[in-house]
Amino acid sequence: MRVTKFAAMKRARQPIACVTAYDHATARLVDEAQIPVILVGDTLGEVVLGLDTTIPVTLDDMVHHTKAVVRGARRPLIVADMPFMTYQTDTADALRNASRLLQEGGAQAVKLEGGKVVAETIRRLTECGIPVMAHIGLQPQSVHHLGGYRARGRTAAEARQLLSDALAVQAAGAFSVVLELIPGPIAAAITGRLDIPTIGIGAGPGCDGQIQVISDILGLGPRLPRHSKQYARLNEEISGALASYAAEVAGGQFPSAAHTLAVDPDVLDAIDGKDRSKS
Ligand code: KIV
Repeated sequence: MRVTKFAAMKRARQPIACVTAYDHATARLVDEAQIPVILVGDTLGEVVLGLDTTIPVTLDDMVHHTKAVVRGARRPLIVADMPFMTYQTDTADALRNASRLLQEGGAQAVKLEGGKVVAETIRRLTECGIPVMAHIGLQPQSVHHLGGYRARGRTAAEARQLLSDALAVQAAGAFSVVLELIPGPIAAAITGRLDIPTIGIGAGPGCDGQIQVISDILGLGPRLPRHSKQYARLNEEISGALASYAAEVAGGQFPSAAHTLAVDPDVLDAIDGKDRSKS
């Protein structure tokens, strides 16, 4: 998958499935499922590192996990999130930090949050050959400023702001834009005004693609956001498997002969001093 295919997929009305991944094993499964886009999201902080928000996630964290994902997935496009304050300070910082995600991490594109306010940064990154996925609507890195994880675009003023942000990031060169937690009809209207694909999360079916956090759709998270659907119940599956393992170790059923290496009796004689040929 390449960023250059995105606009053609939109024109062909071919919905784009995207999912997050943070490690090698999961990335391999995403690749096998032929999902074309993996986001190494900064939800890494909450999903993998046990943090309350994405704000403490560092560039080193992102590089480390992007490398693991890249090793597991050959076919999908791999987009890495730029963490809080790695692109807002100035464009030189943004270029330096984004280039680490490509050069060290092996990602093919970066994602950053914001509309007009980051348009100039998106322009410089794309001019320098770094493809950018933009992200508007609910911006989790601004959770303190926004007063919580609140939907955006429910008032006329917010809806107008979203449209002008979407047009600004498109004009700046973004190859796609994530629309997070905005009313479906507003997302559909923005999608209709753009040439680049919109990738929705909690933004309804009118977007050109969808993105989900992998732990939500696999049933691995502590709770399910309203906009997500569980396609598996891995919490229950894993808890059951671990309880069975612990019970079998405690009860002596594991390991059995089937899980144990055999050895020639002469070798055993050599260490326990018995000569089994005489018995
Ligand atoms: O970090 C992330 O996983 C994201 C998605 C929710 C779009 O930004």
